[in-house]
Amino acid sequence: MNDTDKNGLQVILSGMQPTGRLHIGNLEGALRNWVELQQQYEMYCCIVDLHALTADYKDPSVLKDRIFQMTVDFLSAGLDPEKCAIFIQSEVPEHVELHWIFSTLISTPTLTRLPTFLEKKDTLDSYAFLGYPVLQAADICVYDADKVPVGKDQEKHIWLANDLAKRFNHYYGSTLKEPEGLFREIPLIPGSDNRKMSKSYNNHIPIDYTLEETQKRIRGFYTDEKKLRKGDPGRPEQCPVFLLHRIYTSNPEDELAVPCRTGELGCVDCKKRLADNLNSALAPIRDKRAELVKRPDYVWDVLREGRDKARARAGMVMEKVRSAMRMNYRG
Ligand code: TRP
Ligand code: SF4
Repeated sequence: MNDTDKNGLQVILSGMQPTGRLHIGNLEGALRNWVELQQQYEMYCCIVDLHALTADYKDPSVLKDRIFQMTVDFLSAGLDPEKCAIFIQSEVPEHVELHWIFSTLISTPTLTRLPTFLEKKDTLDSYAFLGYPVLQAADICVYDADKVPVGKDQEKHIWLANDLAKRFNHYYGSTLKEPEGLFREIPLIPGSDNRKMSKSYNNHIPIDYTLEETQKRIRGFYTDEKKLRKGDPGRPEQCPVFLLHRIYTSNPEDELAVPCRTGELGCVDCKKRLADNLNSALAPIRDKRAELVKRPDYVWDVLREGRDKARARAGMVMEKVRSAMRMNYRG
């Protein structure tokens, strides 16, 4: 395969599990970056419902609405369906096909040693959960993707995808692109309890919160525990409210950190300003969101077009795979 695709662009595959409404951690940590990347790459954004199934197998009926909401979030944040194919993983069966072939090329102990497996193996012990990273490798390689934008927590999975492509090429001749991670410094987005923002900790600010819900959530944020009242000197670098100000407020150092340290600024006021700035930063996304949820047909059309574009490419790569393996029996 050439270094670049037919239109001269390198290919990026990104994936996200449909776990529910996205929050500002997803927005600042991943989505904004994807929106940038679609300008310079041919992009495929995969909503990985089959991966979600490893946890949601008892009630997959929740997936449809989550997929819809996630697509709305993607479009509202600025992903452009002209530049980026947004699609549902299970609608492109080639992912599962390549996953099976990859699963013959990797040993079980390699998978049971992965930290992501060890973390959850007591609650998720299915065969599919063990194979989660193998499916992820197939997600990537079935597009001959050059790059995969992910957080550092996914480093081993990308390494595995690269390793599986190498193994494939070793056994059957040079066929698949050997993909690489696009790791970047992701700003740490703290949640209300000062842990990493995550839906599972319920410390998050969903993108589609109303103004009031946003204010309320921010009022409940943890601050520097030494600063009990206005007048007490605070330590902004230890305060999640200040970390968010760094993203949403211009000149946070002079405007907030300095008066926080002297005690001049109280937390109530500081939080109010954050809520205002965050609400204005999210306003265009929320407006677009409100528009899109009124047009479900359009949203499902985007997913259909994404699927068709994805299948065209994945089908082509699978042809190469079968032919390299001499498994194109009728060819
Ligand atoms: N494992 C990824 C996560 O939890 C989701 C994912 C699945 C993914 N397939 C992918 C990410 C392919 C990038 C590329 O975030
Ligand atoms: Fe945090 Fe602001 Fe309070 Fe300082 S004034 S401790 S930055 S909330």
